[in-house]
Amino acid sequence: MTIMTKPAEPRTLIDAPSLAPTHIAKPDLITVEQAKSMDVARMTDLFKAHVNPGQLLFMKLLGFHKVKIERAEGMYYYDQNGRAILDFFGGFGSLAFGHNHPRILEARRKFQEEKRQEIAIAFMSQYASALAYNLAQISPGELDMVFLGSTGSEAMEAALKVAERAAGPKRPKIVYAENSFHGKTKGVLSITDGELYRGEFKLVGGNIKVPFGDIQAIENAFRSDPQIGVIVLETVQGGGGIIQAQTEFWQKLRKLCDQYGVIWVADEVQCGYGRTGRFYAFEHYSVVPDVTALAKSLGGGKAAVGAMIAERDIYMKAYGTPKTAMIHAAATFGGIGEASITAIEALNVLYDENLIENAASTGDYLLERLKGIQAKYPNIVKDVRGKGLMIGLEFHDFSQALPMVLRPMVALLDDKLKGSLSGFVGSLLLRDYNVLVAFTDYNRNVIRLEPPLICERKHVDFFADSLDNLLSRGIVAIVKDFVKRTQRRVLVELAIHPGLNEEWRELLPQVLAFDERTDATVAVEPIGREWIWRRCWPAARTVSRS
Ligand SMILES: Cc1ncc(COP(=O)(O)O)c(C=O)c1O
Repeated sequence: MTIMTKPAEPRTLIDAPSLAPTHIAKPDLITVEQAKSMDVARMTDLFKAHVNPGQLLFMKLLGFHKVKIERAEGMYYYDQNGRAILDFFGGFGSLAFGHNHPRILEARRKFQEEKRQEIAIAFMSQYASALAYNLAQISPGELDMVFLGSTGSEAMEAALKVAERAAGPKRPKIVYAENSFHGKTKGVLSITDGELYRGEFKLVGGNIKVPFGDIQAIENAFRSDPQIGVIVLETVQGGGGIIQAQTEFWQKLRKLCDQYGVIWVADEVQCGYGRTGRFYAFEHYSVVPDVTALAKSLGGGKAAVGAMIAERDIYMKAYGTPKTAMIHAAATFGGIGEASITAIEALNVLYDENLIENAASTGDYLLERLKGIQAKYPNIVKDVRGKGLMIGLEFHDFSQALPMVLRPMVALLDDKLKGSLSGFVGSLLLRDYNVLVAFTDYNRNVIRLEPPLICERKHVDFFADSLDNLLSRGIVAIVKDFVKRTQRRVLVELAIHPGLNEEWRELLPQVLAFDERTDATVAVEPIGREWIWRRCWPAARTVSRS
């Protein structure tokens, strides 16, 4: 594979011409049509050279790197070979309407044809105002004031800022939960409980972490530290592996917040927007937070829209005077025209097509089918849980249950997959059954199922039958198959492993090819010849010829 990189250039421009140039040559740019028709090999080169080489390795490990999506419609992606892939991933909850909902496309097309305005900075925008009104109509209680942005992180940043200002400078501390995920921008990273994401960034200290759903820990914190002004919780933890708390927890939380004057921010970026069978997940518990945030499906699957929605009182305390109004007004793209009308049309579709009710009933059916699968494979499936179309399927950690012969092989896998059946199952579901599912950041044993809210029973049946069929192969067969056909890299590593088992030695010739031209043994993708030469040539050669 050739990696296309730009030729090295000096970083400082010297000899700037004194006169304006008469002609600026167009660089070698890819056109839209060329981008659309790019093949997988070129895509891979560009992704590796300019986007994220490390992520590419992970995709290769799962076998996802061979797929080029040509189009997407409803519940399906369609790849370069015309294969339909059933989408049970749903962009982590970003695709309530499935792909390219016709009403949403039509609203956008019309907006473009009418040459409407986009940027909402100089003048008031009828589109942003209407979207804010719609969100206030939908939101219970006093959740009336809306800040529009482009992402979940931005909406959560706005939520933190409005809450911090309303709480006042004497109460700057925030309580957040273990295994929380609120985004990757620097502010919300301080209350996101992922070592990987936090890296070694300089974050805002002094926040207090409590176990999710532990009301006693929260009460202790509130009682002992009067500087606490804000508590931030996902109503259903997504990145943590679809974790819910009891109704009692939420009701006590509301009371405690009122008692101690702490502002409760409910992060509904993933679990909101009808996904759990109510517009907001907190509605299941008959409580209303002081501030909330939405994103993902808010953009109808076609636009990037995030929103912070705050109680009017809180908003007015933070930004209610002419002097404070601009402290955190929308950014350049907050509430831009086409994104706003996309979100407006999407909200109308959500109710016109009864998608929230569908999430509840189809979600119940999905849960029921998965409970059946759990009962059938109790040694493989540890738990199924969730609400509506936000479901987690947890596998037992299999690293200890695996036959000794497979353990060294699994130990060689990428860290992300160690002891986790999710990677193997996800990879094989895509390869053999044309189904896409999502993995879970903090709990590698959990597969997240967040299909579009247009999902029907027939889709659930297809998914559940596929999973059932795959699990019927048994863990050992799944792991062996995954490694045999997708993870040639591991086998090549095993070729140099001194303790290589006979059974696995037999598999090696299937993944190592003898190259007549160079008289060398090479592994097929994703291992390059250089890698073989450097790391395992002698052993690979021995194995190949034996
Ligand atoms: C609960 C929650 N909050 C915030 C975010 C951040 O959203 P975004 O990726 O749009 O910035 C996410 C994203 O997955 C999320 O799940």
